[in-house]
Amino acid sequence: MTKRQNVAYTVPKLTDYSPEALEKASRELIFALEEESKAVSTESEWKAFRDRWIARKSGVVTQINDLWLKASPKNTKPEVGQKVNHLKKHIEGMVEVAHKRLLFRAVAPTEVSGEAEVSAKEFDEFAKGLHKSRLLAQAIDITLPGIRRPLGTEHPIIKTMNEIVSVFRNLGYSVEEGPEIETDYYNFEALNFPPNHPARDTQDTLFIANQESKPLRDRLLLRTHTSPVQIRTMEKMQPPVRVVCPGKVHRNDAPDATHSPIFHQVEGLAVDTNITFCDLKGTLDHAMKALFGSSVKTRFYPSFFPFTEPSADVQISCIFCGGTGYRDGGRCPNCKASGWIELLGCGMVDPNVYGFVNYDSKKVSGFAFGMGVERIAILKYGVDDIQLFFQGDVRFLEQFA
Ligand code: PHE
Repeated sequence: MTKRQNVAYTVPKLTDYSPEALEKASRELIFALEEESKAVSTESEWKAFRDRWIARKSGVVTQINDLWLKASPKNTKPEVGQKVNHLKKHIEGMVEVAHKRLLFRAVAPTEVSGEAEVSAKEFDEFAKGLHKSRLLAQAIDITLPGIRRPLGTEHPIIKTMNEIVSVFRNLGYSVEEGPEIETDYYNFEALNFPPNHPARDTQDTLFIANQESKPLRDRLLLRTHTSPVQIRTMEKMQPPVRVVCPGKVHRNDAPDATHSPIFHQVEGLAVDTNITFCDLKGTLDHAMKALFGSSVKTRFYPSFFPFTEPSADVQISCIFCGGTGYRDGGRCPNCKASGWIELLGCGMVDPNVYGFVNYDSKKVSGFAFGMGVERIAILKYGVDDIQLFFQGDVRFLEQFA
């Protein structure tokens, strides 16, 4: 007996298929199975045990199928088949029980002392109990108060942008957006910046690398202003057009207290019949009063943009000194004692621009304007460093909640 324990069991070829011979071979197999199953004491030993007996390719089950059943003479096949099926079930059952025993030992080692026999039924009961206690451990007490997450709030730039947009929505403008990565055509050419025109230099453009193989108009860049959305809008709709286009823009500026390579603009465009500079002035005067209070005055100062003619910079009376240029017994530092603060660019849409979008410049006219959101937020909230908007310091941001 002891000798047989030490020699690994191999499935013998059968020469005799009589019921007695079959019975003897089965008993030897079951004996080996039980001995090996008892020797399993770790997870990896169990895996090896499982593979040795039931692995599809070369497990004992496959072997008895090949060596006993397939090789048996035709007239004995029914009995051999029955026997092999029976053994197969027995082996699979033993492999399962061996695993449960392992589990049982791991959790309750003292309960299986030495060679104490534990029946399959006991293992089943135990496994059910274990499953139940695991479920209990995972259960959630729904009566406990939850963990509150602070809700967060609108960023001051988004808040300001929304405020500007809503002033124009109330005037009947709709909202359009466009891509931040633009082509040279939309950012410059269709806005009447000819190739190599010096006006392009004022925009400090960030170009996408390796675009030289494309025609100039298709080369990509980070949009330097929201004006390309004017073109995209006019391409897809006919006058009357009244839109505002909020969004992020990029320029090659080193960050400091008044510059940031990323900032935000709100663009406006109105095109219809008989739109005049008066309409532009009235609209922007109203918008500035809506944003900064009804006592604010506006002033239009001649300027230049390739896509508007005439063009103007809009200044508002200084909101810090009431437009006097002096406060607290000295010169107002915000307007440098001038009483005026420059805020946005605007003008009547240049007829050349209509040529790019197939509008008839003899029939329609319109105005456009563009303003920097950070600049307006800085003035509205008295912020002295534009970088604060982008640093994500909660102590700063909380003040706008
Ligand atoms: N796009 C211009 C800029 O960013 C601003 C502007 C918009 C001027 C519309 C006139 C009309 O500088």
